[in-house]
Amino acid sequence: MKHIESRLAQIGSLEDPQTGAVSYPIYQSTAFRHPKLGQSTGFDYARTKSPTRKVLEEAFAGLESGDAGFACSTGMAALQTIFALFSSGDHLLVSLDLYGGTYRLIEQIMTRFGVTASYVDTNDLDALESHFRPGSTKAVLIETPTNPLMMVTDLERVAAWAKKKDLITIVDNTLLTPFFQRPLELGCDIVVHSATKYLGGHNDVLAGLIVTKGEELSQKIAFLHNSIGAVLGPQDSWLLMRGLKTLALRMERHQHNALKISQWLSEHPMVSEVFYPALPSHPGHDIQNRQSSGNTGIFSFKMKDARTIEPILRHIKLIAFAESLGGVESLMTYPAVQTHADIPKDIRDKVGVDETLLRFSVGIEHSDDLIDDLAQAFDAAAAELK
Ligand SMILES: Cc1ncc(COP(=O)(O)O)c(C=O)c1O
Repeated sequence: MKHIESRLAQIGSLEDPQTGAVSYPIYQSTAFRHPKLGQSTGFDYARTKSPTRKVLEEAFAGLESGDAGFACSTGMAALQTIFALFSSGDHLLVSLDLYGGTYRLIEQIMTRFGVTASYVDTNDLDALESHFRPGSTKAVLIETPTNPLMMVTDLERVAAWAKKKDLITIVDNTLLTPFFQRPLELGCDIVVHSATKYLGGHNDVLAGLIVTKGEELSQKIAFLHNSIGAVLGPQDSWLLMRGLKTLALRMERHQHNALKISQWLSEHPMVSEVFYPALPSHPGHDIQNRQSSGNTGIFSFKMKDARTIEPILRHIKLIAFAESLGGVESLMTYPAVQTHADIPKDIRDKVGVDETLLRFSVGIEHSDDLIDDLAQAFDAAAAELK
């Protein structure tokens, strides 16, 4: 199959020749009978390998142009599995603006095991160079675009720099998915996802995915995935496959809606700034267009007056005030007090995640309905402040 749309729609549909099941079955078994001593069906114990999860993992590795895929119980479990590659004394270069949970995992857990990080603008090679510690720095962890400020990193350029320094380049591809961006094709080594977001797509499954390039890294992650055991169960693997079948349609609609609404917000007198790489005014617009075939459905914006935030979140009706992203239902989040609350205020302020910032995960509803909802919430907030 040449096109990604076909591969997505057909996930698992050719994998069960015995019954011809079009929707791949959920194999709930944790144990697998051995034909005789020294023989295996290929499945021994479900933490190591499980049929439904295997179909998902192999299909997803192909979608990301990688060699091996690993499904984990959450995005954080996937990141923790990757971080277990590192040992005491190792140092990471990490995107300055990033998901608060990733920051918390590094700063409150990995540091206890002697793994430390420097937070830098990963698109700035001088900044990367100046924080690089010969002998200790082992990897670069990049979100592009970042959550929530949508900073864009030129993956090909940074991966080439990292390769010269013998560093692993890890990309959190949650926001764009392989439908729009495939970092392994640009020279990166590992892709990680919160599959809870666009890949699942329906705000109803927690999951994480890792895809690796190369035999050595694939074997190391396979060992850690099995040894740590934060693997995805068969029911959730099936739900994720079902979600992936419609990824192409959903991403196109998310992108369409997000562009329309971000343009509307850019012209609204109560809004001071909109952060969305699809807008030509965004500093990462050209890089984004070069390395990705489209834009995510999530963006952030700043209100001129922080006092409007509370009433806006109280008055939105169609858009839910809830902290996630990437589902068919539109969700609005207040990063400073929710998703990014674990990042210290001075760092948040430095990056720009302040109390005027809202993050909008635009769903697949009709864009006019979403704009109407925002308009009435903005009007109600303005009236309350008069
Ligand atoms: C960019 C990004 N990476 C990782 C995660 C963690 O994923 P999960 O919530 O599935 O553990 C999130 C969650 O919001 C995220 O937005």
